[in-house]
Amino acid sequence: MNSSLGSEIDSFYESAPPLKERDSIMEKLNEFVELNCKGTKRVVCVTSGGTTVPLEQRCVRYIDNFSSGHRGAASTEYFLKAGYAIIFLYRRGTSQPYCRSLPDDPLLECFEATDELNIQVRQPYSEAVKRAIRDHHAAVAGGFLLKLPFTTIFEYLQVHFSQTLIFYPFFMINDGNANFPPDFFFKIAIPGRSFLLFIEYLVLYYEQMLQMVAVSLRSLGPLAMFYLAAAVSDFYVPWKSMAEHKIQSGSGPLDMRLVQVPKMLSVLRTEWAPMAFCISFKLETDTKILLDKADMALRKYKMNAVVANELLTRKEVVVVVTDSEKISVQRDKTEAGSDVENPLVKLLVDRHSAFIKDSNA
Ligand code: PMT
Repeated sequence: MNSSLGSEIDSFYESAPPLKERDSIMEKLNEFVELNCKGTKRVVCVTSGGTTVPLEQRCVRYIDNFSSGHRGAASTEYFLKAGYAIIFLYRRGTSQPYCRSLPDDPLLECFEATDELNIQVRQPYSEAVKRAIRDHHAAVAGGFLLKLPFTTIFEYLQVHFSQTLIFYPFFMINDGNANFPPDFFFKIAIPGRSFLLFIEYLVLYYEQMLQMVAVSLRSLGPLAMFYLAAAVSDFYVPWKSMAEHKIQSGSGPLDMRLVQVPKMLSVLRTEWAPMAFCISFKLETDTKILLDKADMALRKYKMNAVVANELLTRKEVVVVVTDSEKISVQRDKTEAGSDVENPLVKLLVDRHSAFIKDSNA
């Protein structure tokens, strides 16, 4: 990592407010890891929705990033179908897996009262509601789908950090050369699955977390995939320089300095999860620059593929950019209710299989 990126990351975390519900997120992650991170099971972290940048600490106003969350929610369904366990890191209030065919405005449209005490699903929605309940509950209750919400850029990046920790149990005992603090080996010498303790340890040693995660994730192997469909803010107001109370409008034009959010893609790729299969997205509104920008991101952040999409046509077509190909993936217009995520996920699952095979060869 270059030193300017390092100092941008330090400033970001120094200014970030503590993550609320950290303990409960950790608990959920630990359970997920216990259940899914074994054998040859594949795990994908799907990020979805846009992050916000608060302008006030007691936030009334914020800057938002466009994303309905449809891409992430639909893709999650297809990854589950392909046998993956999923961590769905999503923006609160955006599309949810298995709920895409239900009306969200108003959801009550789906139901009717039969008498004073009972309600039933209205006929036109009965299949969709049954399917949503059955598939969603099966995935969540079965432990294959862990949903973690975020709203602000601070939450996203902190949750994202935690996210990387989940893969640690794959290799926690076998990386004898890791560069950890002095009493680290004493702590992990506890036999069996002591990752709970390890995760706590990482969070306590927050300053060194990046380095520790980076070194440890080298041994993870290629079974993990990152599918980064979230629209992440590029600029933020550091917490310490943010107004505490609602900014008053009486004092004339608003003059505010936004600082660049460090590009975590390079850290993810080169340090946190160098062996994982990493897919990022590139959204543009100008088609003329889209593929060049995707190509640049591919090379700069060493992604396995970048999914290029243009705002207006993003539901119809995307282009998967790899180091040797540009593959156009289209929605099958002849099939009612089809979406572009179905063929996109199929393609990426195939590529992930080839990647795992090559990595193990
Ligand atoms: O949700 P929908 O309405 O269905 O729309 C889907 C989508 C258009 C949002 C999605 O397909 C998409 O393109 N997502 C990425 C949009 C984007 O804003 O990309 P970007 O150029 O800001 O970032 C490129 C990549 O870098 C992203 O994978 C992002 O996760 C990552 N990033 C960005 C900023 C940052 N500070 N750190 C990052 O890691």
